[in-house]
Amino acid sequence: MTFITQKCQQLKARRTPYSMDVPGFLKKKQTIQEDAAQTSASVSLPQSQNVDNTPPPNGEVAQNNTPTKKPPIPSPTIAFSQKQMPLIDILAPQSMEVDFGFIKINNVYFRTLFIAGYPRFVSPGWLEPIVNFDNSLDISFNIYPVAGKTVLDDLRRKIAEMEAEIATDLERGKIVDPSTQAKLEDARTLQEQLVKGSERYFEFSLYITIPAPSLEELNQITRQIESTLGSLLIVGKRATLDMEKGFLSSAPFGRDVLSITRNMDTTSLATTFPLTSAELSSDKGVLYGINSQNDSFIIFDRFSLENSNMTIFATSGAGKSYFVKLEALRSLMLGTEVIVIDPESEYEALAGAVGGQFVSFSFNSPSKINPFDLTQIYEEGENQLGLKILTLHSLFKVIMGQLNATQEALLDRALVATYRAKGITQDPATQKREPPLMEDLYKILMGMETAEAKDLAARIEKFVKGSFVGMFDQQTSVEIKNPFVVFSVKDLQEALRPIAMFIILDFIWTRVRRDIKRRLLIVDEAWHMMRYEDSAQFLWSVVKRARKYFLGLTTITQDVEDFLSQDIGKAIVTNSALRLLLKQSPAAIDKIGEVFYLSQGEKQLLMGANIGEGIFFAGPHHAPISVVASKEEHKLIDSRPQEKTFNENVDSRPFATTEQVTQRNQYDRNPQ
Ligand SMILES: Nc1ncnc2c1ncn2[C@@H]1O[C@H](COP(=O)(O)OP(=O)(O)O)[C@@H](O)[C@H]1O
Ligand SMILES: [Mg+2]
Repeated sequence: MTFITQKCQQLKARRTPYSMDVPGFLKKKQTIQEDAAQTSASVSLPQSQNVDNTPPPNGEVAQNNTPTKKPPIPSPTIAFSQKQMPLIDILAPQSMEVDFGFIKINNVYFRTLFIAGYPRFVSPGWLEPIVNFDNSLDISFNIYPVAGKTVLDDLRRKIAEMEAEIATDLERGKIVDPSTQAKLEDARTLQEQLVKGSERYFEFSLYITIPAPSLEELNQITRQIESTLGSLLIVGKRATLDMEKGFLSSAPFGRDVLSITRNMDTTSLATTFPLTSAELSSDKGVLYGINSQNDSFIIFDRFSLENSNMTIFATSGAGKSYFVKLEALRSLMLGTEVIVIDPESEYEALAGAVGGQFVSFSFNSPSKINPFDLTQIYEEGENQLGLKILTLHSLFKVIMGQLNATQEALLDRALVATYRAKGITQDPATQKREPPLMEDLYKILMGMETAEAKDLAARIEKFVKGSFVGMFDQQTSVEIKNPFVVFSVKDLQEALRPIAMFIILDFIWTRVRRDIKRRLLIVDEAWHMMRYEDSAQFLWSVVKRARKYFLGLTTITQDVEDFLSQDIGKAIVTNSALRLLLKQSPAAIDKIGEVFYLSQGEKQLLMGANIGEGIFFAGPHHAPISVVASKEEHKLIDSRPQEKTFNENVDSRPFATTEQVTQRNQYDRNPQ
């Protein structure tokens, strides 16, 4: 809580006197209005009989005494370029009517309220009910720094006056006016703070202009605003007889022609800052969407939060991938690299458009990743081979299915032996040697000659000799060399996807740690990995450690219930500073509500949400979001086939690789 100092003395206005550029054709009206104001009559521009489309030259007013209505301007650009009319006349409204209590511009009524009294105590964001008022309002603040010396002189005089008043009251045996006493206390505190330099002094004015399509509505909204102001202990007064100045003062010209100010110190001024959802908006970062509550931007730099991870939950088709692609595209422009694990090949077009690398895994594609690859990063106190064997252990549990204790021990021994057979031990120097392959493990297991080991070997046989051969049993041929890399596993069988995603994630994880940069790693349809405890555990270990390597991991899932009913799923959510919920199904909403502490209203919002609408969480704050893309962005990120022709009349050429785009641009510049 902080307090607003009682006004000590109205300081002399130091602003330039009000002057207004009056559009040519309104000049006539202006004089009429001044005359009329004296007789308290309202003025309106009479309808002109002149329907001639040609505007008067140079904006001159016809020389007869009838005020002219502004002629229609079919094309402002032509009117301006051919100098048919001065710019100010082109921009000016068609008609303007100034009354006591409102101003009517074209067909819209406006009324300005100025703030004449403020509460003594306020808390930060106290203007929020007005800023988020459910009707559009023009609110303008004017802040004028005041020189400390002038204020101190005024304060000293005022304090002396108040002390004298209290002393006289006491002398005469009268009860001291408590409000004078309160003011005196405030003035003394302020004096002390000003002298010490802990506060500065400002003049502050606040105007609210209400637009409405009819007078009745204007009156109704004004009453609502007045009662809202009243509930905040703010005294709002109508700028009666000064509506024009009021309108100008709240228009975005930076002109305070009403000049009704109030003195405030720095702390009080700070509390008037209007964007209470400011936590969701920072001055740098990526535009995530629009706050549908107050139309402010949701801008964030993921890497400035306590961790850079994000989780996204929604039903299928709600706009999850769309949102992520939009973020990827915008992050890329800010120099963040993006890696995507894409089970649906949804990111291929985007990769093509930004000149990215698209790696598709299938039996006959040349892209291979060897799960036995070593990181070749040496960190104090970490045993790289040991960690790799742990990861492989988890991977083989996903591949082999349930293992009993003996089998687990066997697998572990086999893994160590496989590396040793290639001369690789815990000694970092040996780890540069060529890593083993799946086949080597198979041979080691076969060579163990126990029934248990043979059983394990049989479980991986299909990768070495059988139907899955050529998948994960060759040396790595992929490198991450591009700022935008997509790994697609769409061409793999459903059963192989979690395994492939695991191997790819492990591969990315080793590369990411080798060369630390700002990176986003997107795991779309992450529920594939959550299906098995070991792959889920691996995903979680990446989430936990991502921050250390400047990595922001985005997990997207439509299988909300499954994800959140596992402890690992919940842990991933709690370790993600950014969270996005889009449309939810009634079946999942209770679970979501429980994990995200949603109110009944928020649950309703999520169930009824349209595509691209939901709630965005950043750290402890959240706000309703609406995800919007520009037409150009939409063309790159849309995945619905029927939408491919979006904005067809503007540019129907399909997007292609960067090379093609460059060629096309060259052609556009110099067509032959
Ligand atoms: N914010 C949005 N604005 C406009 N269209 C959107 C938006 N979000 C999604 N869409 C449309 O919905 C389609 C499906 O969205 P998508 O993100 O692929 O869904 P999912 O949640 O299943 O990943 C997109 O291809 C696009 O056409
Ligand atoms: Mg998707």
